[in-house]
Amino acid sequence: MTETRRFVLAPMDGMTRASFRLVCFEYGAEGATTEMIQSLALGRAKRRLSDTFAETMVRLPGEGNLAAQLIGSVPAMMGASARKLTDMGRFDAIDINMGCPARKVVGSGNGSALLKDPDRALAVMRAVRENTDLPVRLKLRLGWDPEHITAPELARAAGELGFESVTVHGRTRTQMYSGDVDIDGIRRVVAATSIPVYANGGVTRARDALSFLAATGAAGVSIGRAALKRPWIFDDIRRLEAGEPVTERDAGERVRVLERLAALACGLRPEPVAIAEMRKFSAWLLNGLTGSADILKALNTVVTLDNYRALMDTYLNTLIRENDTQIHPELAGEESLDTV
Ligand SMILES: Cc1cc2nc3c(=O)[nH]c(=O)nc-3n(C[C@H](O)[C@H](O)[C@H](O)COP(=O)(O)O)c2cc1C
Repeated sequence: MTETRRFVLAPMDGMTRASFRLVCFEYGAEGATTEMIQSLALGRAKRRLSDTFAETMVRLPGEGNLAAQLIGSVPAMMGASARKLTDMGRFDAIDINMGCPARKVVGSGNGSALLKDPDRALAVMRAVRENTDLPVRLKLRLGWDPEHITAPELARAAGELGFESVTVHGRTRTQMYSGDVDIDGIRRVVAATSIPVYANGGVTRARDALSFLAATGAAGVSIGRAALKRPWIFDDIRRLEAGEPVTERDAGERVRVLERLAALACGLRPEPVAIAEMRKFSAWLLNGLTGSADILKALNTVVTLDNYRALMDTYLNTLIRENDTQIHPELAGEESLDTV
């Protein structure tokens, strides 16, 4: 089967909830994955269906191809959880997390800990495969460390088990989230399996995504942190491919995105919780605009959607009045100095 989805949103705990996913879909993301869902929590879903959990499990109208991501290492529990997610009837696929490097996660044998226990990893993959009729996907890192590169062998097994695709973060567990992404390592995963491989790690701008795709020979690219700061990266990619100009987005668009995100999140969670979580997105999207530090400070006392909108509208109107709606790279934090 030819994979038609190429540029997708990577799963991010605390971030890729329905509201943010929808914003990325609206900018052209061709797929998304929920944040990781613990097989244990799902097994006890009745007691654990907190607001946070609920927003993860929601699928908003307008969301495109969506996988639910499971994390765990007990095959029976992963199988039972896969069945529960399938029975919800709202996901297009189930994704297995074998990449999370967090100490707490690997300490209990989950996430990237499975990369150094291929037998258990295979048992988990089989259990999920046998308990759902949805397509199953695997997300992993290259290996635990440079001496234990297991991704090619696990990707090959995924193909043999009939999985739909594999996403590989081109780092080992010991690299955590920094250090060079190993392009050749990803190429070896691509060569090891017949199913589509998504390359992941380190994309910051649209043009990186295109060169990463070409360099790895992957079927697609999965984009994480860059989308948090630039959810329009998917539209930038489309523009680049179409030969259209790609420019920094101005204050008007940034405020519009923030207000959209806030409204969506407030529709799914208690307003004060959703608005509190808007602080990080506001910091990312307003970074580099004149006066954004003051706005972020003022945001600390805002708890309702109406007040959030009022604050943002007033800010935008000031910028428009002063003809100052463009990003100033010299005011931006280091990471947002990248231009598209
Ligand atoms: C805040 C945060 C949360 C993450 N949560 C998950 C997760 O729940 N499941 C997962 O498979 N990967 C998770 N990741 C890893 C990303 O999916 C991705 O592999 C990694 O960030 C590298 O891609 P990037 O450089 O495009 O961000 C997370 C990453 C970040 C930064």
